[in-house]
Amino acid sequence: MEFNDVYNNERVTRKFTNRKVNENLLAKIIERAKQSPSLLNSQPWKAYVLTGEALKKFKKDVKEQLDANVEPNEDFTTMLSLNWDLYPSQNMATVGASQPYFFNNKMELFTEANNTMFNAQDIVFLTIPKASPIWSVFDLGIFAQSIMLLAIDAGLAIMPAHSMVSYPKVVRKYTKIPDEELVGMAIGLGYRDNAAEVNDSKYIPNRLPTEEVYKLVK
Ligand SMILES: Cc1cc2nc3c(=O)[nH]c(=O)nc-3n(C[C@H](O)[C@H](O)[C@H](O)COP(=O)(O)O)c2cc1C
Repeated sequence: MEFNDVYNNERVTRKFTNRKVNENLLAKIIERAKQSPSLLNSQPWKAYVLTGEALKKFKKDVKEQLDANVEPNEDFTTMLSLNWDLYPSQNMATVGASQPYFFNNKMELFTEANNTMFNAQDIVFLTIPKASPIWSVFDLGIFAQSIMLLAIDAGLAIMPAHSMVSYPKVVRKYTKIPDEELVGMAIGLGYRDNAAEVNDSKYIPNRLPTEEVYKLVK
């Protein structure tokens, strides 16, 4: 695909079809994403992919946690503060205010999509070692972006979601991620269900005006 087509397609998908993703394609994506830059070439990332029966069981266990109202307990929130600066807080509020979908009558769609893990056919869990400088979170973000762009290039749809790492104990049970690694983020992969209401293009969030983001100093 042309780079611009890949980049312009980088929007999240909240409902995938049941079509499976070829395992060789998955391996190729991770293989190529390793080319991402990292601080001092530290390459702190690892990718664990759940698919098939293991993924089904994982989703079922997470549903049990949700049904029992178990508090989310992400590894990253213990490492990083959740105190937001005013700037991202305002951005999130703007998204909320401009997207009735998030907070009004369509909230159930959003919640349902998250609670069923978007019907993702594969979930890539991304980790860094527990003993990591904050630089490694930056590196992991770059690695994640590479995975997402490569996936889109291969015709797949992507869904990065912290909701899929709400219960790291359950993630560890199936992925066997060792305690020495932090379960940082997860990316759902599959093929986009274009008929799903939750994927409707009218719910595409805006971005801030460029002058709020970009300053050129001469
Ligand atoms: C780190 C991260 C975590 C996210 N977590 C969730 C999530 O848990 N649930 C969800 O529905 N979307 C999640 N998203 C998707 C964002 O809400 C989405 O990217 C944003 O609203 C912009 O939409 P767009 O990417 O389609 O333009 C997450 C995105 C990122 C990068």
